[in-house]
Amino acid sequence: MARLAGKVAVVTGAGSIGNGWGNGKACAVVYAREGAQVVLVDRNEEVVAQTSDFIEQEGGSAISVVVDVSTELGVETYVEAALRHYGTIDILHNNVGIGIPRNFVEITESEWDLIYRVNLKSVFLGCRQVLPIMRSRGGGSIINISSIASHRWTGTSLAAYASSKAAINQLTQAIAIEYAKERIRCNAVVLGFIDTPTVFAGLSAGATEAERQLLAAQRDAACPMGRMGTVWEVASACVFLASDEASYVTGTELVVDGGLSATVPAG
Ligand SMILES: NC(=O)c1ccc[n+]([C@@H]2O[C@H](COP(=O)([O-])OP(=O)(O)OC[C@H]3O[C@@H](n4cnc5c(N)ncnc54)[C@H](O)[C@@H]3O)[C@@H](O)[C@H]2O)c1
Repeated sequence: MARLAGKVAVVTGAGSIGNGWGNGKACAVVYAREGAQVVLVDRNEEVVAQTSDFIEQEGGSAISVVVDVSTELGVETYVEAALRHYGTIDILHNNVGIGIPRNFVEITESEWDLIYRVNLKSVFLGCRQVLPIMRSRGGGSIINISSIASHRWTGTSLAAYASSKAAINQLTQAIAIEYAKERIRCNAVVLGFIDTPTVFAGLSAGATEAERQLLAAQRDAACPMGRMGTVWEVASACVFLASDEASYVTGTELVVDGGLSATVPAG
């Protein structure tokens, strides 16, 4: 039996930056494989079309909505499209997140505002519009994608990104408790080093394959399992939280990092 049969899932950032598989793209595909009808939301029409085509080729059901999820209009547009096509929303998966590596005093005000708008305000706006729908439906599951950078230093200057993700963790708890009696669950998935194209997008435009491999090897070596996580391992955790199997799981942070945040540097 498909674990999300009969459910409608919205996934933000359902495309992927660069070739390959990002977290949102993999989660959208796995939700569809588990029987959900999926609303694919992304600001990039080309990449979200790739996700949509993939789902359709596998026999799944999806629609694409091209918007910026950090704006009220963007959120209204994807919510309206979900209701028009599928009639409701059972799962809201807030995956969109951006980071700009900068030493602390070099972060500009506009960069700070952009990161907070895209990472945090998008989650606030999305939840604010979707919660009443879930309430009228008698329940739902919200999954907010966070990062171990919300808990501790991860080796890069990412103050705006890290603090915005920490705010997502707390927003998750606030929603979970306020809506617990409404049978709406809200959880954060706290990711460690995952092997996605975005990681390598941070390299300079002229980076060689050897430089790419060096970065991958450094990230692999930093993880207790000797490798980064895969987007499919992220999707497995998210399917659990999205499904009724997690009916008594709310307000939690599910850390998917292969044990990375349980370590300290060797003395
Ligand atoms: N990759 C990692 O190692 C890692 C680690 C920790 C947390 N994360 C988190 O995982 C999430 C996804 O990361 P990823 O690297 O898989 O995704 P990604 O960077 O490939 O982005 C996914 C999609 O989001 C879309 N997007 C970006 N801004 C948008 C906006 N304002 N409106 C609509 N769409 C927008 C992009 O077009 C892209 O297709 C992020 O929240 C990120 O912080 C990733």
